[in-house]
Amino acid sequence: FQKKSLAGKKVLITAGPTFEAIDPVRGITNHSSGKMGFAIARAAVEAGAHVHLIAGPCDLDTPLQATGQITRTNVISAKEMHAATLSLTDYDLFFAVAAVADWGIAKPSKEKIKRQGKEAPNLEFIANPDILFDVAKSVKTKAGKPHPYCIGFAAESTNLEKHADEKRKRKGIPMIVGNIGPETFGSDLNQLLVIDANGSKKIAKAEKLQLARQLIQLVAKKI
Ligand code: C5P
Repeated sequence: FQKKSLAGKKVLITAGPTFEAIDPVRGITNHSSGKMGFAIARAAVEAGAHVHLIAGPCDLDTPLQATGQITRTNVISAKEMHAATLSLTDYDLFFAVAAVADWGIAKPSKEKIKRQGKEAPNLEFIANPDILFDVAKSVKTKAGKPHPYCIGFAAESTNLEKHADEKRKRKGIPMIVGNIGPETFGSDLNQLLVIDANGSKKIAKAEKLQLARQLIQLVAKKI
């Protein structure tokens, strides 16, 4: 009998996009199917962890719900995702997989904004909180470590390794995972570049669930 790699560990995951309302029928969002985050949730449960999945609006079933090892909180906006995430403490690992909208609408309209001939409305944006940065800075764990081990994700259009590593340092986190290639959105396939202070390691193109399982094995060795 081999002990599961995350037995007894608690894992928090954000997944999917966020949606920022303009009015009751319109909004802005990011490209994200949620598949990568949900695959990581499944792989973490398989590895024996208790998982809390905080999901933005996406049309995916909660993986392995029958195990009783997974709890899901649904949120819409980045602000809600931030509040739900920061309300939780005492976990060992945090995977920030969500594609969080960088800006919300300062004053969303309570009623549908009517069209005014050819005029377009001027929308005022406000910056959303950085969930990953705030977790890395302030969340404590009881398990003798000052902070949960935080893993960020990065989708870059150019110079992935450099930009992702800069992001890792700026956010104060030990590991960041770059999505290689533009075809990842909505796809079942992906290719990852795992970057930490020791350098980078490629995980070759595979189904997102296979990648998630490999990533979980890598991370399990770090905690
Ligand atoms: O620099 P950028 O915000 O694109 O970094 C992406 C990483 O940060 C992802 O892990 C994403 O989940 C996380 N993030 C976050 N809160 C934000 C923006 C990004 O947790 N407001």
